[in-house]
Amino acid sequence: MTTLSSPLATPAPPTGEGVTFPPGFTWGAATAAFQIEGAAAEDGRTASIWDTFARAPGAVLGGDTGDVACDHYHRMPADVALMRELNLASYRFSTSWARVCPDGGSLNRSGTDFYERLVDELLAAGIRPWLTLYHWDLPQALEDRGGWLERDTAERFRDYAVALHGVLGDRVPVWTTLNEPFCSAFLGYTGGQHAPGRQEGVAGMVAGHHLLLAHGLTIEALRTAGTEADLGITLNMTVADPHDPEEPADRDAARRVDAQFNRFFLDPVLRGSYPADLLADTARLPWRGGGWLDVVRDGDLALVSQPLDVLGVNFYQGDAYAGRDVAVEPDGGVEHPARPTSSPFVGGGIVVPGRGLPRTSIGWEVEPSGLTRLLLRLREDYGAALPPLVITENGAAFHDVVDADGEVRDPARLAYVRDHLLALHAAMEQGVDVRGYYVWSLLDNYEWAYGYAQRFGVVHVDYDTQVRTPKASARWYAEVARTGIVPA
Ligand code: NOJ
Repeated sequence: MTTLSSPLATPAPPTGEGVTFPPGFTWGAATAAFQIEGAAAEDGRTASIWDTFARAPGAVLGGDTGDVACDHYHRMPADVALMRELNLASYRFSTSWARVCPDGGSLNRSGTDFYERLVDELLAAGIRPWLTLYHWDLPQALEDRGGWLERDTAERFRDYAVALHGVLGDRVPVWTTLNEPFCSAFLGYTGGQHAPGRQEGVAGMVAGHHLLLAHGLTIEALRTAGTEADLGITLNMTVADPHDPEEPADRDAARRVDAQFNRFFLDPVLRGSYPADLLADTARLPWRGGGWLDVVRDGDLALVSQPLDVLGVNFYQGDAYAGRDVAVEPDGGVEHPARPTSSPFVGGGIVVPGRGLPRTSIGWEVEPSGLTRLLLRLREDYGAALPPLVITENGAAFHDVVDADGEVRDPARLAYVRDHLLALHAAMEQGVDVRGYYVWSLLDNYEWAYGYAQRFGVVHVDYDTQVRTPKASARWYAEVARTGIVPA
């Protein structure tokens, strides 16, 4: 492994004044179990929906699986040492439900051993663990019983959370229930881009409600268990603009995206209700002989809206949306999986024309000021209901290579992270309470339907040798984490 004493360890001299984050602001990096662990069939772990989906023809680029991934399961102590070298104050990881509770059943001590060792290693290195209970890897056995379309899955999730908390509750100070339920629900059950790959229209709403219920049941159970940890959830959010603000169809498209992507989750969690405009759009769509709202029972939304200690915000990009047939910019030649998918937006009719902005290698537009706008909007719209925020993910994919001298030069990623940190700081200056930032990701890893083709890490992974090489962005970020200063 390249060490941090090589020449790129010295960040470029600042060209402007830069900004200073408050003392105590948490600098971290994030990963997820399925994306890095590998060891897919070891120590009792059973299959998750992603193990199955990865084997569906055309679902994942290159037919890539998570069988080995970054082999983190076997290399964990060295990876924690690397985090320490990068001056990380905190590490956000997820636990694999199918490892902790194989087939979604009872606790598997050889599965929890790994997480105990990880947490102990982090604590010994002075790194604060941040645990996510669900980062998309539902045990396949539960999907076979209906997955997130069944209420029972939410109850099984609560049981898994309580069992794991019994093991790690004394050592993990932050527990978040779900990561990006928008993706689990709407990419998984409406669009089919993600496992389980179902394309069943309004089913995404049903899955979304049961995910939210799982969150609420878990918060209730952990509070009842007397947890001393901070509890929260991580939502991914976007800034949805109309392609042409003068065009009613585009304004409506942006509203619908905002309703389904952002407010479908924010409103129940922070206000205890689903957005009225979203209900007007979808309440009459048929679901199993009735409408999707039939799955919402009395008391559910009270459970979902219990007070939280922290709200995780994942932000990558905003977009402009059209509700008409308009020309769509090319996305820069991104290779997509072959399997046909549907629109993740219930009702369809949403077009993403592009705004002529620079894009990352996965085709996502770069617009850092969107982060400032998003954070100000959250404070404006949710006011006192908004818990302290943490940016639990932000980062960028680029096609990085190891140069002949062994270095990985990734100036575009460095600029992406820097500009988003400046945008974050601008929102904090305007009074938004943000307590930390976790770069996505610590390591290059399994980028879901894109397999290993997209690299989001600040540390490069050679998948043939498993050699880790910190990129220039990692060295830069280590300096930011050490000083709290982001050079402009
Ligand atoms: C959000 C997800 O939480 C993470 O798993 C994924 O790799 C990144 N976005 C990049 O797509």
